[in-house]
Amino acid sequence: MHELVKDYYGRQLQSSADLKTSACCDITTVPEWLKPLLGRIHPEVLSRYYGCGLIAPAKLEGCRILDLGCGSGRDVYALAQLVGPRGEVVGLDMTDEQLAVARRHQAWHAEQFGHDNVRFVHGYMELLDELDLEPGSFDVIVSNCVLNLSPDKDAVLRGVHRLLKEGGELYFSDVYADRRVPEAVRQDPVLYGECLGGALYWNDFLGIARKAGFNDPRLVEDRPLTITDNELAARTGSIGFYSATYRLFRLDALENDCEDYGQAVIYRGSIPNHPQRFVLDKHHDIETGRIFPVCGNTWRMLHDTRFADHFDFIGDFSRHYGLFEGCGGGLPFDQDSPGSGAAPCC
Ligand SMILES: C[S@@+](CC[C@H](N)C(=O)[O-])C[C@H]1O[C@@H](n2cnc3c(N)ncnc32)[C@H](O)[C@@H]1O
Repeated sequence: MHELVKDYYGRQLQSSADLKTSACCDITTVPEWLKPLLGRIHPEVLSRYYGCGLIAPAKLEGCRILDLGCGSGRDVYALAQLVGPRGEVVGLDMTDEQLAVARRHQAWHAEQFGHDNVRFVHGYMELLDELDLEPGSFDVIVSNCVLNLSPDKDAVLRGVHRLLKEGGELYFSDVYADRRVPEAVRQDPVLYGECLGGALYWNDFLGIARKAGFNDPRLVEDRPLTITDNELAARTGSIGFYSATYRLFRLDALENDCEDYGQAVIYRGSIPNHPQRFVLDKHHDIETGRIFPVCGNTWRMLHDTRFADHFDFIGDFSRHYGLFEGCGGGLPFDQDSPGSGAAPCC
């Protein structure tokens, strides 16, 4: 599969306009604060963007970030501005043609930003331990529409867990299916290249994440995907595909379920670009100044991470009240969110 994917992204596709479905294109509304940062990125880098979501979590200043499958580097160059001169962004990709575009414009971006804090590495995300990357050295690992392309997703998540600092997180957008994808679809080269054939059934993804050491994966946002090409749509039958952004914290103390210890937090409104609210995930939109009840895991995701200084914390773990209400199962994605129509690519 690696050679097929390299050929697809290195030779067959020349720009996002060549894609045949909306799977690898991000139609998410870009927040206002991010637009000027994207406006400083070189047009050739932008034209080869094949992502499916937004991978810019809050509070990145000074962070060390790794982007798995960085492609031509759009997200690397956006994140380079957010981490600033005290931070660093490392982009990893296996396709020479993609890395060549990213590297060609490195000096140009350094001049635009006033600092050179990016590095591009050639390699495979399944073999992270073979690269010159120190274990426990990254605050955040991101990835945009890449995990689905990997033939060994368990190995990727194991490697990510090893490279993250305690309290660090994997924040990534990818494509998921509402059921296990049949072999015929998985082996279809175009469907695979278009990020559909290798998509994980969402519940299998949750299992793989937990096995790699990431308890309580959090869904941040999602949207259903439309396959606009009729012939390709027919080949996938009635499988439902979704683009979704998850965040997985490396926090050893996280529990399997959301347990209630009677705790709450208050957001101080002090994270740059997020003065009114802090969105941890789809179920935790925390308004500034309000007392917000949380389970023990959410408490830890805020208290034992880079977000701690921006919250007041009420309570502790001394008394347990049972399961936290409202943490249910079932398909976690919205089936008809706004923008789910056949929107143009990127
Ligand atoms: C859909 S594109 C996304 C590129 C980039 N993240 C973006 O948003 O534009 C997938 C990228 O992942 C890279 N890739 C796929 N499998 C990989 C692997 N096993 N190791 C490293 N890179 C990989 C491909 O070379 C390609 O550049």
